[in-house]
Amino acid sequence: MLSAYRRIPPGTGGIQLLDAQNLSHAFDYPLLQNISLSIGEEEKVAVIGVSGSGKSTLLHILATLLKPQKGHVNILGADVYSLENKERLAIRRYEIGIIFQFHYLFKGMSGAENIEIATLLSGTKPDEELFERLGIKDMLNKRVTELSGGQQQRISIARVLSKNPRLIFADEPTGNLDDETAHIVMDAVFEHIQKVRGGLFLVTHDERIAKSCDRVYRLEHAKLELVR
Ligand SMILES: Nc1ncnc2c1ncn2[C@@H]1O[C@H](COP(=O)(O)OP(=O)(O)OP(=O)(O)O)[C@@H](O)[C@H]1O
Ligand SMILES: [Mg+2]
Repeated sequence: MLSAYRRIPPGTGGIQLLDAQNLSHAFDYPLLQNISLSIGEEEKVAVIGVSGSGKSTLLHILATLLKPQKGHVNILGADVYSLENKERLAIRRYEIGIIFQFHYLFKGMSGAENIEIATLLSGTKPDEELFERLGIKDMLNKRVTELSGGQQQRISIARVLSKNPRLIFADEPTGNLDDETAHIVMDAVFEHIQKVRGGLFLVTHDERIAKSCDRVYRLEHAKLELVR
């Protein structure tokens, strides 16, 4: 039952937040071949790579959204693709925040309503201070379709942080933002990771933001190569 799901508290003996083993996946051609990756507490991992190299596909696999053709994804010690659907859903709901490349807000609703749905599901409270910091406080009551791309992007980031997840998967979260706003947003994400002793898997084209992570990988020829 969903209500029986308990968050695993920070510092729980030696469990990796994320541990992916030997992932392989192909659509028209092999995109990922035998990829392994772990993320521990307070670790921020960035992935770069050319368009079409499979970054979003890898993110979707790690974030419980797409079962890989081969390999395992363990989140907080649970092999997520061996779980029953409702258990996987509970992990996604309570432990994971996904910032999509194309932000996936509900278009007919306001920003505030979009955030409210996420917090209702996860049982958390919207954070007024965060809205102020991300510069979205005054636009929360507008319909999503009346907002710019960057405004929508910030609302989707606020929505994810408001869920208070341990693991954040962010796919080009600053793609629509100017440098200054991008840094404000990433600082908020980084601080959150520190606060909850969480982990971040970040896909980005922004080298400076990638460099502020603990590890940077390039996805190329279906392999993850450690850049730094
Ligand atoms: N559901 C799908 N069905 C078939 N092919 C897919 C699917 N999703 C992605 N692909 C293909 O897999 C390849 C990698 O896509 P992906 O979105 O993972 O790349 P990416 O590295 O995130 O690119 P970008 O930087 O442009 O966002 C592309 O050739 C894409 O067409
Ligand atoms: Mg992508």
